[in-house]
Amino acid sequence: MSILIQNGRIITASDDYIADILIEEDIIVAIADGMEGDADHKIDASGKIIFPGGIDPHVHLDMPFMGTYSSDSHETGTLAALHGGTTMVIDFILQTQGKSLHHALEQWQGRSDGNCYGDYSFHMAVTDFNADTRKEIVQLIENEGITTFKTFMAYKGALMIDDGQMVDLMAEVEDKGGMVTVHATNGDMIDHLIAKHRSGGKLSPLYHYLSQPEITESEASGRFVDMARYTDVPAYIVHLTCEGALDQVRNATKRNQKVFVETCIQYLLLDAGLYEQEDGAKWVMSPPLRQPKDQETLWAGINQGLIQVVATDHCPFNWDQKLMGKDDFSKIPNGHPAIEHRMELLWSEGVEKGRISANKFVEVTSTNPAKIFGMHPRKGCIAVGSDADLVIFDPNRQHTLSAESHHMRVDYSAYEGWEVTGKVETVILRGEIAIDNGEVQINKGYGQFIKRDKLSKMV
Ligand code: URP
Ligand code: ZN
Ligand code: ZN
Repeated sequence: MSILIQNGRIITASDDYIADILIEEDIIVAIADGMEGDADHKIDASGKIIFPGGIDPHVHLDMPFMGTYSSDSHETGTLAALHGGTTMVIDFILQTQGKSLHHALEQWQGRSDGNCYGDYSFHMAVTDFNADTRKEIVQLIENEGITTFKTFMAYKGALMIDDGQMVDLMAEVEDKGGMVTVHATNGDMIDHLIAKHRSGGKLSPLYHYLSQPEITESEASGRFVDMARYTDVPAYIVHLTCEGALDQVRNATKRNQKVFVETCIQYLLLDAGLYEQEDGAKWVMSPPLRQPKDQETLWAGINQGLIQVVATDHCPFNWDQKLMGKDDFSKIPNGHPAIEHRMELLWSEGVEKGRISANKFVEVTSTNPAKIFGMHPRKGCIAVGSDADLVIFDPNRQHTLSAESHHMRVDYSAYEGWEVTGKVETVILRGEIAIDNGEVQINKGYGQFIKRDKLSKMV
């Protein structure tokens, strides 16, 4: 099948121009002015913007966590992502401590294979690094195209590794062509504060926030970049939220280190005041929402090039799951739903409000994730030879976000009633129209597992 998209305003991480795009089968074969010809399908994109399909490199689909499972499956989560202009996600596999990495891989493949609408990959979370799991690193990179290894400096007893494991893992992963990523918060201090608040009868969602003060994140971020310096590896911090943590990265760059930083849409737009609401559990996530001064730092950090990626950390739980912690904040499953709204929210609150440029929008939602995680130029750009993963976007259309209209499998919206300017209209994934004016056009299973390339220090 061939598709000719005519007269769209093409925005990439570096360019902004009007042209036509010709797609044959699953790739872009030509970009030029005034193309004619007999394509199977023609789309008039006059007045519309075309950008590369979004890549969300931080999602948790159907993930066992805190005594329950995140409520979006690979089917519902990747479909909701497509509705919002995200054509590919990277999901997290969690190793069970005491078991192998391949054991976890098989569990995740059992839930994802044949079930995705959008393209997907995995990061492997290493929760138990030992002589056996060390041997698996090279196999995952070489055979499976899984090149990134997530670590947790928190969630002790379930996911956390110690600093000795961290430096050994960093060295092993770097040697084999991958990269370590981190949830950087000080687990011991957080556990101590949680216990203190609980014993004092302080059990509301506000105490989730007060158990993870900024220092717990800045300390761990600093320790992590110091370990990366010691092992001489590039490294990636997931879901960075605050000024103190970004300052640690700023200092590391002064020492010429390569540290990639991801923040998430919620940390740019929402603040900790929400924890004082009766329904504060909706925003219980780790790290927690921060203060307006941190939002300012994050927007500036994007423009300064210190933050390269805006993801979601999509980890939805229905309200009855959140109620597991109605009498104790520490039992509220951590996470919030956003996979569908990242692109439209960032456009509306970022580009439309003049906080970031349209090129920066593409960079942080698509091009940088593709480059950092070994998929560029197949993904993350609009270029001849690249996968035809495209979003046709109406920048003028206004709409309201609501649980009544979203496609995520979760019964509330963290952005209920938000007015958004700009709407995803058509989504093309590898040359197929996947979403057309809110209607899905592909079948479950169309989404492919994308094997990623080994990573380069040069990105
Ligand atoms: O609250 C969150 N972020 N839940 C998902 C797990 C994680 O730490 O990323
Ligand atoms: Zn995390
Ligand atoms: Zn996460």
